[in-house]
Amino acid sequence: MENTSSDTNNISSEDLQRYLDIATEAANAGGTILKRYWGKLKEIEEKRPGDLVTQADKEAEVAVIAVIQRHFPTHSILAEESGAVGLQDSKFLWAIDPLDGTTNFTHQYPFSAVSVALLIDGVPSVGAIYDPFHDELFRAATGLGATCDRAGDRSTLKVSQANELSRSLLVTGFAYDRTQTNDNNYAEFCHFTHITQGVRRGGAASLDLAYVACGRVDGYWERGLSVWDIAAGVPIVREAGGTVTAYDGSDLVLKSGRILATNGQIHNLMIDELSQIEPLQQTFPIGA
Ligand code: IPD
Ligand code: CA
Ligand code: CA
Repeated sequence: MENTSSDTNNISSEDLQRYLDIATEAANAGGTILKRYWGKLKEIEEKRPGDLVTQADKEAEVAVIAVIQRHFPTHSILAEESGAVGLQDSKFLWAIDPLDGTTNFTHQYPFSAVSVALLIDGVPSVGAIYDPFHDELFRAATGLGATCDRAGDRSTLKVSQANELSRSLLVTGFAYDRTQTNDNNYAEFCHFTHITQGVRRGGAASLDLAYVACGRVDGYWERGLSVWDIAAGVPIVREAGGTVTAYDGSDLVLKSGRILATNGQIHNLMIDELSQIEPLQQTFPIGA
């Protein structure tokens, strides 16, 4: 009999495909809400300085959770706005960011996504990231490959081939605590800007990872992230042939909030650079 078992903790390919289908349904449900609120927000709250939340975040999260709970009532859920939902003792944990890129969304800067991940025994194994403003759905499950659906077409995702930093385009981001710490990523941003073709700041970590997977950027690093920001992008980059680790090349620890994701070719080059970067001489008042 054909072995349909994947590498993911003895979960069958059929089961992984089903988790991926439901992740997709959930991401699409969230995307419908985001489109409804586009340009129509009435209230914008601030959870902490710079960290915004809107009715769109909240309603999209309800819609995403409803899909997951309808299909998998015994699975655990961690969602950005609701925290831990339901039972927390399952080997299956769904990590949900209903609106990644809230700041962009509130300014009608069209770079935001719904990010839905399934961790199996702590390993990010399934990811669906839906950008409703470009109608692009990025998704993957371990062993099943990574794809992008756009305008009715499906393509297989493949990372870029750049193998020198001087020929690379990178992307990064800055956490909301950036005014409270010298570990604010400013030094890294300057450093890589100087030695690459450029560093973009997209404003949605999930899409930054998806863009590594589809070769639009060659590498991404960031600190201060939450599990729901990055969990969906990890299997997508890996299945597209990329590499995802901690800054020093050791195994990724999602809860550390630090991630390095590249096309693989420039991974060691970025690790070398990251190991040498010191915080900028303090020129910004902390806590301003
Ligand atoms: C943020 C975005 C941003 C990243 C921040 C995240 P949010 O998520 O992903 O790109 O730099 O660290 O918190 O708040 O828009 O869901
Ligand atoms: Ca986020
Ligand atoms: Ca969010």
